[in-house]
Amino acid sequence: MASKKILVLPGDGIGAELMPHALQVMRAAVGDQADIEYEEHDFGGIAIDKYGTSMRNETLEKARSADAVLLGAVGGPKWDDLPVDQKPEKGLLGLRSGLECYANLRPAMTFAPLANASSLKHDLVSGLDILIVRELVGGIYFGEPRGVEVENNVRVGRNTLVYDETEISRIAKTAFQLAQKRNGKVCSVDKANVLEVTQLWRDVVIETHADYPDVELSHMYVDNAAMQLVRQPKQFDVIVTGNMFGDILSDVAAMLTGSLGMLPSASLNDRNQGIYEPVHGTAPDIAGLNIANPLAMILSMAMMLRFSLGLEQAADEVEAAVNKVLGQGLRTRDIHQDDPQNSTRLVSTDEMSAAVIDSLG
Ligand code: IPM
Ligand code: MG
Repeated sequence: MASKKILVLPGDGIGAELMPHALQVMRAAVGDQADIEYEEHDFGGIAIDKYGTSMRNETLEKARSADAVLLGAVGGPKWDDLPVDQKPEKGLLGLRSGLECYANLRPAMTFAPLANASSLKHDLVSGLDILIVRELVGGIYFGEPRGVEVENNVRVGRNTLVYDETEISRIAKTAFQLAQKRNGKVCSVDKANVLEVTQLWRDVVIETHADYPDVELSHMYVDNAAMQLVRQPKQFDVIVTGNMFGDILSDVAAMLTGSLGMLPSASLNDRNQGIYEPVHGTAPDIAGLNIANPLAMILSMAMMLRFSLGLEQAADEVEAAVNKVLGQGLRTRDIHQDDPQNSTRLVSTDEMSAAVIDSLG
């Protein structure tokens, strides 16, 4: 039996609440196909409270030696007033860059039973299947110099948007290769009309494209891309973009599908190690109330089974089970709507995740 090691980082808010559900589904889906050993560490705000740092060195060491990291979410109002370099998010960025997980895959897919939950018209989003490939360990999130200083008695804040060509070509390759397995289209998003660094982005994406003649490449400025995502989202297949544009566009894309509570993500490095986390945050306002949607967390776990643990079949089963419970009409509050025909049922977190387990193959 294959033996795999994962590091589990529940984090804060609903991240910590939903993690046990994902682990239960994992155990049920994997059964005796593999022996998955896991160790759980505090991470994010809870680690700040206990250890004074959002990520301990030993947590990063464990992550490096694991096959994958399954992560809930970090942050919350309790830690919002800390300086940027002491916030829970610092640990998250440190983990991403410490593992060199540069390729963040954020699929935005409409689940057929949920096409009505989108804020856009049904026709615009039914059958939607976009993959945002976001560069995750460079760009303005990590660029130097950074910080706030007093210069001539005036406070000046500074961040730096920087990419070198190797960082651009490796993420472009990821996008082209993924497009080859999908509908063969990549749209690269930049702001090349204003920012030199993104002109370089565009040039390198075009150069890298030479090796992928079967993929159709287009380019879009980020403002237009934001608009096109809500105007006609089905024109996109794979979108590749830098760290900050990807952060913003992936929230837009998520909402097209009905709820942030549905969307998983994977962040991969060249060794196929990955960090798997739902796109939603910690949602402190609803944490602990047994109403949060566990499906993004469960689907992130499924991505982990597929991409890092080689358990494709178990991943398929989890995804099929999620589709099935949605088809049966089960809805957590975020995806529940007025339902004159009574074809859906409002359920709790516990009920939703138990239903997924019941629906497994
Ligand atoms: C995300 C989040 C993070 C990011 C925050 C929590 C640091 O918004 O994963 O999209 O900006 O990358
Ligand atoms: Mg974000």
